[in-house]
Amino acid sequence: TTIQYSSLSVVGVSDNGVIDFAVHDLSPGDVERIIQEQLSQKANLDKGWKAENVKRTVLGHGEFLVPGFVDTHTHAPQFPNICRGQQYELLDWLKYITFPEEEKLADVAVAKRLYNEVVRRVISLGTTTCCYYGSLHLEATKVLADECQAQGQRAFVGKCNMDRNGSPTYVEASCSSSVADTRSLISYIQSLPKLPTSSPLVNPIITPRFAISCTDELLSQLGTLAKENPGMLIQTHISENASEIAYTHALFPNAPHYAGVYDTHGLLRDGTVLGHACHLTEEEVKLVKQRNAGIAHCPTSNFNIRSGMANVGKYLDRGIKVGLGTDCSGGYCPSILRTLQDACVTSKILSLSTPPKPLDYKEDPEKLEGKHLPISTLLYLATLGGADVCLLKDKVGNFVVGKEFDAIVASITGDNTPGEQGRANPAVWYSADDDIQTLVERFLFGGDDRNIKEVYVCGRRVGGWGHSQ
Ligand code: GUN
Ligand code: FE
Repeated sequence: TTIQYSSLSVVGVSDNGVIDFAVHDLSPGDVERIIQEQLSQKANLDKGWKAENVKRTVLGHGEFLVPGFVDTHTHAPQFPNICRGQQYELLDWLKYITFPEEEKLADVAVAKRLYNEVVRRVISLGTTTCCYYGSLHLEATKVLADECQAQGQRAFVGKCNMDRNGSPTYVEASCSSSVADTRSLISYIQSLPKLPTSSPLVNPIITPRFAISCTDELLSQLGTLAKENPGMLIQTHISENASEIAYTHALFPNAPHYAGVYDTHGLLRDGTVLGHACHLTEEEVKLVKQRNAGIAHCPTSNFNIRSGMANVGKYLDRGIKVGLGTDCSGGYCPSILRTLQDACVTSKILSLSTPPKPLDYKEDPEKLEGKHLPISTLLYLATLGGADVCLLKDKVGNFVVGKEFDAIVASITGDNTPGEQGRANPAVWYSADDDIQTLVERFLFGGDDRNIKEVYVCGRRVGGWGHSQ
């Protein structure tokens, strides 16, 4: 059993990684009293807790617990391309930058080297749950799943399905081999060992790359596969950029719209993770809500390859599930902190282009559309919102008793280990007088891996700068 506590919260975690108690919004001086209370209660509850056996981690001022970040959309094979090719828009970027890079994963040795590094970096940035697209290759994608499992990251791992519109050297041989390989990957991942809590750490996810790269037949067969596996997640791209949308309409002339392509093939449902969704029409928004699908908001990528801006305020107002996605290497930063900052900027740009309201306009304080997103909403998107998109809302995303302990120990005191480039830490402006709001703002807007001191998944320490492999 461990107890982590700071001036913000006290969280007790049992040996199997489940949260036993959590108290937040503390006033100074409460911490010791609460711990003593909890220890004596729990001892009475026959859990065998003894004060002297309970490991207590004391966090100082400027250190606090944050729920682990959820990245709802990224591409593991594209990491070596980070920063490259941002002069292109989506379809050329895929052709000239992305497909040639993903092709290299035909070699399992490349996968072993690359994915070990990718998963380690993503964890070090505080991402405790990650939805990964692999390449087209079955063997390489198994390696990705192995890495997540070995390094202890909660993950959804999918092999891209793509039986058309790749390149001559990067496309699947046939629809049937695409589906057969997907089935093999699913069985492989489902046979990986479980955690003590019995929840699988790594899960398969059905991954039709996007409508353009899949024949009608492939989408149908993946829809069948989805039907056979009701709880399984599905991830794909939707309505990212204008040329992509136009091409999709040309390829699927009978579909009512882009979302309709997925819907008619049984691929739009609770647990579908829709990447980007920059330009959804009103009809599509209604359909996404009706099907209870979720959206992966990828603002860094949307700016970088000039795709557009997703109206997250509107989606949240309509009750659509939204999380954040780094979308590397469309996005050039694998950090959810960076993505959160760009989500903030996106909402501010959208608010600037909202027409002025009449003088007698009564603003609805509950509505987010047209406004910049508040800090609380941004933090929600990075954590519980993402968990909701991945159907993990009841398991992770915040510190509630009975959930699994996926957490970051944030440290913004400025005296931590320097980052890779030894730059000054942006959080050095931290002051011992900072209130809770300021501490969190400094972390979210000035933080990077230097401020991610420890990372926990299901109570196990898996990363952070103090962590050695
Ligand atoms: N659409 C289809 N494939 C991709 C991809 O790899 N990245 C992004 N951003 N969009 C896509
Ligand atoms: Fe993507």
